[in-house]
Amino acid sequence: MKDNFDSEINEFSQLSSQASTHIVRADVPSEEDSADGSLRPKLLDEFLGQKEIKENLSVFIQAARERREPLDHLFLIGPPGLGKTTLAEITAHELGADFKVTSAPALDKPKDLAGILSTISPGTVFFIDEIHRLKPAIEEMLYIAMEDFELDWVIGQGAAARTVRIPIPKFTLVGATTKAGMVSKPLQTRFGIIQRFNFYTHEELASIIKRSASILNCKIDDDAALLMAKSSRGTPRVANRVLRRMRDFAQFYGDGRITLKITEDGLKKLQIDSLGLEHYDREILLSIIKNFGGGPVGAETLAISIGEAQDTLEDYYEPYLIQCGLIQRTPRGRIVTAKAYQHLGLDYNSNATSSQPSLF
Ligand SMILES: Nc1ncnc2c1ncn2[C@@H]1O[C@H](COP(=O)(O)OP(=O)(O)O)[C@@H](O)[C@H]1O
Ligand SMILES: [Mg+2]
Repeated sequence: MKDNFDSEINEFSQLSSQASTHIVRADVPSEEDSADGSLRPKLLDEFLGQKEIKENLSVFIQAARERREPLDHLFLIGPPGLGKTTLAEITAHELGADFKVTSAPALDKPKDLAGILSTISPGTVFFIDEIHRLKPAIEEMLYIAMEDFELDWVIGQGAAARTVRIPIPKFTLVGATTKAGMVSKPLQTRFGIIQRFNFYTHEELASIIKRSASILNCKIDDDAALLMAKSSRGTPRVANRVLRRMRDFAQFYGDGRITLKITEDGLKKLQIDSLGLEHYDREILLSIIKNFGGGPVGAETLAISIGEAQDTLEDYYEPYLIQCGLIQRTPRGRIVTAKAYQHLGLDYNSNATSSQPSLF
């Protein structure tokens, strides 16, 4: 109990300190995000981008509806803020089914899972976020629930203990994770549908920004939307946050309309650069260059050197830096690319020759 409490306090203080230092972090949902549920698409048609996932899912949903069966269990993989939770909710909506949400860290004991599954209605879409963090005993229980739609339940104690199987309604499990590599094989194989999210293109993000702006009743120029899109690390949650900040700037410095000029100035004020990198991204690159001669450096060491949690580094920062071609993951660790030196205005050649031991 105490351990649990300590770790909760830790997590909380980590969250609050992160929230104050990061404007656009997609992995730390802000109060504003939840207050703005209006921006969250409710239907598949309103879910912009991720064309392949959408096409596949709409076929599977249609087919399940026609057969009057629950949809196969669905596994969603991708970095924070790309729309996993949104898509899970849309799936329930499109199926006309109930939607239940939990996250793996919230499931402490098997009875927590049993409590949910024993009260669901038939066809419920049951969403477990961060599914890579399930405890083994709960994962065991989930296997049987997913496969046989039964709960394995222990009654009594000691020598008198016995297990009974309790039937539960058929349901669809939607599991989401930022770390597919940490999900056990037996769990993965129990999902019938596996979909991976990609970062959104600039055009897709620009349409998401324009859709959000119209919901927020805010006028925005096309070139401003595109610049915001380019600065939003391929992530709708970040795009919506950048939009809200630009709306503030437009209201304060202008007449409320978000123009290119307002956006250019605003991004500078938020220290977001032309690739959409924020202060911390640049710190990571600089740390690898200055402290580790450009790499390779292991994630754990790097996380310590920049004072971030390793999870945050791996889930949030790295995927986008890799996507931008600024760092590479090698078996020996992370290395910074020539493009990163260029982006930071540093000389790649001089550093590369001075930091790498000569082979001859
Ligand atoms: N495809 C999309 N189209 C429009 N808005 C989106 C899309 N994906 C995500 N969003 C917006 O981004 C926010 C974050 O998405 P969310 O589903 O919470 O991400 P995740 O669960 O992957 O961390 C949502 O509230 C929604 O407003
Ligand atoms: Mg989510």
